[in-house]
Amino acid sequence: MKAIIYESNTGHAERYAKTLAEKLRLPCYDIKQAKKELPKGEKIIFIGWVFANQIMGLKDAGKRWSVAAAGAVGLFPDSKTNREILVSKNKLTVPLFYLRGGIDFSKLKGLQKKLLKMVHDDMLRSNDPEKTEAAKILEKDTDFFSEDNLTDIAAFGLSQF
Ligand SMILES: Cc1cc2nc3c(=O)[nH]c(=O)nc-3n(C[C@H](O)[C@H](O)[C@H](O)COP(=O)(O)O)c2cc1C
Repeated sequence: MKAIIYESNTGHAERYAKTLAEKLRLPCYDIKQAKKELPKGEKIIFIGWVFANQIMGLKDAGKRWSVAAAGAVGLFPDSKTNREILVSKNKLTVPLFYLRGGIDFSKLKGLQKKLLKMVHDDMLRSNDPEKTEAAKILEKDTDFFSEDNLTDIAAFGLSQF
């Protein structure tokens, strides 16, 4: 294992990537920086933020490096169904680790705020009690970052040396 590479929009994926890199004593790169500094073909763990079930940057990373595992940093709670959706939407053939992030409205771009508002309003209109409850997550800043969430991906990383 050579490095941890990440793509982050508002910082949660970056924090997970940097904390994991410290635990595994590996270098950590933002994907843009990695393209300049890390040779193609190296074995890496990729951590990306989730946008409409896409793990951002993962496809790009897979074209350059040998991705051994993917970390998905999303807002919604971890669940079997959520993982299955992420595996299928991202056509994953390597282990997936879900790392719950958070939301920081002050760092979101205008369009991103609008998209989240549309998702929120759709959830409220659904008349499904689970969805109307889940919509609350999109109403204020939250931060679910926890080092404990890295336990499984760190154990995986250690097994790859
Ligand atoms: C436009 C938009 C779409 C999102 N779509 C999803 C999603 O499909 N699933 C999810 O769990 N989180 C989704 N999120 C939440 C982000 O993945 C979450 O805020 C994450 O912590 C961001 O990581 P970052 O701080 O590294 O950018 C979305 C956020 C935005 C702004």
